[in-house]
Amino acid sequence: MNIAFIGFGKVAFYLSKLIDGENINIITSAENRSDNTVELINKSDVEVYDTFKEAVEISDITVSLNSPSSALKVAHKYKDYCSGIYLDLNNISPETSIKISQLYDNFVDGAIIGKIDSLNPILYLAGEKAGDLLFLNDFLKVNIISNNIGDASKLKLLRSTYTKSLSALLIECTNLARKYCLDEEFFDILSLTEGDDFKEKSLSRINNTLNASKRKKDELEEIISYFDDDLIMVKAAHEKLSRL
Ligand SMILES: NC(=O)c1ccc[n+]([C@@H]2O[C@H](COP(=O)([O-])OP(=O)(O)OC[C@H]3O[C@@H](n4cnc5c(N)ncnc54)[C@H](OP(=O)(O)O)[C@@H]3O)[C@@H](O)[C@H]2O)c1
Repeated sequence: MNIAFIGFGKVAFYLSKLIDGENINIITSAENRSDNTVELINKSDVEVYDTFKEAVEISDITVSLNSPSSALKVAHKYKDYCSGIYLDLNNISPETSIKISQLYDNFVDGAIIGKIDSLNPILYLAGEKAGDLLFLNDFLKVNIISNNIGDASKLKLLRSTYTKSLSALLIECTNLARKYCLDEEFFDILSLTEGDDFKEKSLSRINNTLNASKRKKDELEEIISYFDDDLIMVKAAHEKLSRL
């Protein structure tokens, strides 16, 4: 079975290591790609075609793993070459998932939950054809949510609603505790109820947020616009990240 990856960045690199079956051939292309991507491809044991079109054409499954902003454009570009399943794993909105599903007969809406380099990420899938990808369970945990395109993307947004708002709150509380020179004690007392690894996890969450505050702020904007609900906490988190 051939599986084509459109885009070969961090996620594709780790996924290609995980999906390592005897009868599975991961293929991609370095067409117009950066040195970073070429380096990742060279470090992997994947088959490389001159163009993405060729790779898609001979594949049973095409996986789109490039970027949220290019996902729709990429879907348009390869729609006439994909006769198998088209799985989108970009962090796109449910609306974009639905738009892409209209281009393909066999579209599956997917979301990777958990760190891709942790070796135990979970793949959430939605769509009528999701069952055809259950064989991936041999390589990583696969959960089928429903037949409704957009549900996997929606679940990912819901998760971000919590994690990104929490990160903004953690930044605020930690800075306050530091101001009063009580940060060690602050983490100690919270660890009593939140678990021994609370400090380590919180500091990692804070660092990740500070290092990618613009992207996280943009994602919160997408959440606010998509859910169109009375999201007071999310809006506050968005304001907090805007001021960093
Ligand atoms: N990182 C995560 O933990 C994570 C988790 C879940 C989902 N995702 C989603 O997975 C996708 C990939 O993430 P990543 O972290 O692997 O990103 P990344 O490291 O930036 O890799 C993106 C890859 O896509 C390529 N690409 C960009 N535009 C393309 C196009 N038009 N045609 C073909 N290839 C193209 C890039 O090539 P160049 O190097 O030439 O630009 C690069 O190889 C994103 O949509 C992200 O939202 C990421």
